[in-house]
Amino acid sequence: MKAEQKILADAASLIEAAAEQFVSAARSAIAKRGVFYVALAGGSTPKGLYQKLATSPYVEQIDWTRVHLFFGDERCVLPSHDESNFKMVREAMIDHVPIPQENVHRMPTEEGVAPEVAIRYCRIMKKILQEQPLDLVLLGLGPDGHIASLFPDTAALDATTKTTSLYVEKFESWRVTITYPTINAARQVIVFIAGEAKAEIVRDITTDAVQGLPVQRLAPQGEYYWFMDKAAAGQQ
Ligand code: 6PG
Repeated sequence: MKAEQKILADAASLIEAAAEQFVSAARSAIAKRGVFYVALAGGSTPKGLYQKLATSPYVEQIDWTRVHLFFGDERCVLPSHDESNFKMVREAMIDHVPIPQENVHRMPTEEGVAPEVAIRYCRIMKKILQEQPLDLVLLGLGPDGHIASLFPDTAALDATTKTTSLYVEKFESWRVTITYPTINAARQVIVFIAGEAKAEIVRDITTDAVQGLPVQRLAPQGEYYWFMDKAAAGQQ
């Protein structure tokens, strides 16, 4: 499924545009339903966005008491580990915004092996969301076309549950991830891509030089955007 592309001149303007989109989604959801449910991306690219959301004017524009943070995926490490997506988001944003701690729903990676954590997180999502979809899912794009921890040629791509777990050979590590049913049901999906290192995979996907990659199997029912800088879009 093709996304609406938002191409910004550089990393700084990409972060600002994505922060404005995040604030707009949050304010709209809170105005309509009194709550904003968002699943955050891991990796390095979105860190600058999370830091921006914790600064003026963005931080004041969101009623953080109405925000519930989920995670699109997690490495099966302790939340204090340098590889932890939760740790990255906590340091970049959570520690700097007035969000109630009970509104932060990290994957409980210390509570068992990966399949057990996936089941526990599915229960957490169902308890908080009830039958509501996520309002926004933020995703990064891996150089192999993965999103969240939906890696190519894995059974995770065919999961029908809200969450699943998988062993990622190339990283020699277990991951827990939300799945296509969860992502596609969201009211808005943003794939957030920055830097020249992603230009090749972006070009291969947008020219259909490759087929069937995990990001290409996305079929969001709501709004679907790719936010990129010119470097990632190959428009240097
Ligand atoms: C993770 C992410 C993963 C990430 C992409 C892009 O846990 O690593 O969820 O899906 O978003 O691999 O990562 P970068 O932003 O570091 O390139």
